[in-house]
Amino acid sequence: MLIRPDRLATKIELVDVQHQKLFELLTKLSEGFGQGSPNEKLIGDALQELMAYADKHFLEEELLMLRSKLDPRHIKIHRMEHRSFMYDAKSMWEHLCVEEDLASVAEKLVRFITSWLIFHILGIDKTMSTQIFAIQHGASPEQAYEARHAVKYDADITHMMLDSVLDLWHLSLERCHKLEEELARCRDVPPGR
Ligand SMILES: [Fe+2]
Repeated sequence: MLIRPDRLATKIELVDVQHQKLFELLTKLSEGFGQGSPNEKLIGDALQELMAYADKHFLEEELLMLRSKLDPRHIKIHRMEHRSFMYDAKSMWEHLCVEEDLASVAEKLVRFITSWLIFHILGIDKTMSTQIFAIQHGASPEQAYEARHAVKYDADITHMMLDSVLDLWHLSLERCHKLEEELARCRDVPPGR
């Protein structure tokens, strides 16, 4: 997927700088399996660094939303997206490591994190910044929240969002098929074995 950093800008400097750092850490993670045989320690360390930075970044975004007095409905959903990313990325790493070879685990993780970040930034992060600017210009938190979908998406951004959603959907579908196969195998095992 082609990432255009300029298209991902929320126009809030602190947030954009931290998003850039997340993509740099993602590149470091992909380098762990890009050359020769994958190195488990390198990939594990790079993933840990990325997750620790993501956690810090999410917390700072949540504090920014509270300080900017965003509508609690937005903060609640936004925080849930952050938490679900932390949970999904960790459980992907733990489960896939048992089931698949390291190169394919790392490749799927990089795909998941890339697509998740793009969809999250273009979606809820951009509506967050729209609301912050609206409140700075005199709107109430409720008015800013109700108007959040007035954000216009051009064809480029719509395609980037669609690509990322489709990729996330394919990854979940693959995971569902694997779980179904495992379930079928468990059903075939006679009781007591
Ligand atoms: Fe966010």
